[in-house]
Amino acid sequence: MDWLLLSWRLLLISLLCCVSCVSLLSSESYRYPGFQGLLQDNDTLRLGLDFQRMLRINHMLYITARDHVFAVNLTTASEAFVPQLKLTWKSKDVSKCTVRGKNSDECYNYVKVLVPRNDETLFACGTNAFNPTCRNYKMTSLEQVGEELVGQARCPFESSQSNVGLFAGGDFYSATMTDFLASDAVIYRSLGDGRPVLRTVKYDSKWLRGPIYSVILCHVSYFIVSLHVVDSAHTDSSAVLQVVFSRVARVCKNDNGGSPRVLERYWTSFLKARLNCSVPGDSFFYFDVLQSLTNVLQINQRPAVVGVFTTQANSIPGSAVCAFYMDDIEKVFNGKFKEQRTSDSSWTPVPDEQVPRPR
Ligand SMILES: *[C@@H]1O[C@H](CO)[C@@H](O)[C@H](O)[C@H]1NC(C)=O
Ligand SMILES: *[C@@H]1O[C@H](CO)[C@@H](O)[C@H](O)[C@H]1NC(C)=O
Ligand SMILES: *[C@@H]1O[C@H](CO)[C@@H](O)[C@H](O)[C@H]1NC(C)=O
Repeated sequence: MDWLLLSWRLLLISLLCCVSCVSLLSSESYRYPGFQGLLQDNDTLRLGLDFQRMLRINHMLYITARDHVFAVNLTTASEAFVPQLKLTWKSKDVSKCTVRGKNSDECYNYVKVLVPRNDETLFACGTNAFNPTCRNYKMTSLEQVGEELVGQARCPFESSQSNVGLFAGGDFYSATMTDFLASDAVIYRSLGDGRPVLRTVKYDSKWLRGPIYSVILCHVSYFIVSLHVVDSAHTDSSAVLQVVFSRVARVCKNDNGGSPRVLERYWTSFLKARLNCSVPGDSFFYFDVLQSLTNVLQINQRPAVVGVFTTQANSIPGSAVCAFYMDDIEKVFNGKFKEQRTSDSSWTPVPDEQVPRPR
């Protein structure tokens, strides 16, 4: 696997440079149009706009925030950054939300999903004061089309939780936490025409655990989600240590779920592999915590993704940029197979003749 690497020493140097960059930037940035919007709004004065997502479609830039979606026309934005369209979508459940005793700063509608559904329609979901809800909107006018639908498993309950969502072949794929307590992580497929709704197994951390960072749509038949998981590592004294690993997980677009006896309504194509971002040496030094991942790019004319990784929280602080070729990732999914018997046991290799089919 090829990688690009930035040692933590290099990073430190660039961080020092950035201190001067930032002061330069703040004075420089006044020369360019900016958008702070809604300064008269009391909630915004207190909490800021809290931007969540950006989506560019041709010359329009859609920006989602707390209780609002803005659409900026980029043809004219070089002179003044003024939204051409503004949508206000507030939660009606605020009183119920404050009763639930969670942080009242979350009793708003943080718009966490905004994706094109077809050439004319945008699909949006918001946390809606701990009651996630989705709607369809006309791209050109931000007018609502049709009825609201339940946002659970499509959108998280809180603004701070990571989530991803996209439409592919008429199906909506989402990766998020599905419950109020954020204990059930899911990769979910729904809204398709005639295709079964599928998900990862509930409350089973052997499948998924921890936040999910990115979704990559592959040209062939599948779709990849990248996540980082908290996992247990067994030390020599067999004490269990909580460490974070980053994994790439795959589900196939043509998966129709299992039979009524096995994995009905669940993915049968789910596989995951560790993202290995390391510096070679006498012993490998690993950057295991994924912070961010790009979409598929071309590197050396080969499709690849680039991620920013850091070390474990209790380790020497360091960061690295690693690139992974998509065909190498595919090879890994067809390569050697390991299993985990229980969710806190270690991963053990499975002999070739015992690899389950399909995997
Ligand atoms: C905003 O706050 C001011 C001062 O606290 C208050 O008088 C006003 O009614 C508030 N406006 C809204 C829309 O809540
Ligand atoms: C963006 O602004 C340009 C110039 O005013 C206008 O011609 C164009 O129709 C606008 N685009 C959209 C999508 O509204
Ligand atoms: C990570 O990659 C290196 C270089 O290919 C390899 O030697 C090492 O064993 C890998 N580590 C794990 C945990 O797979």
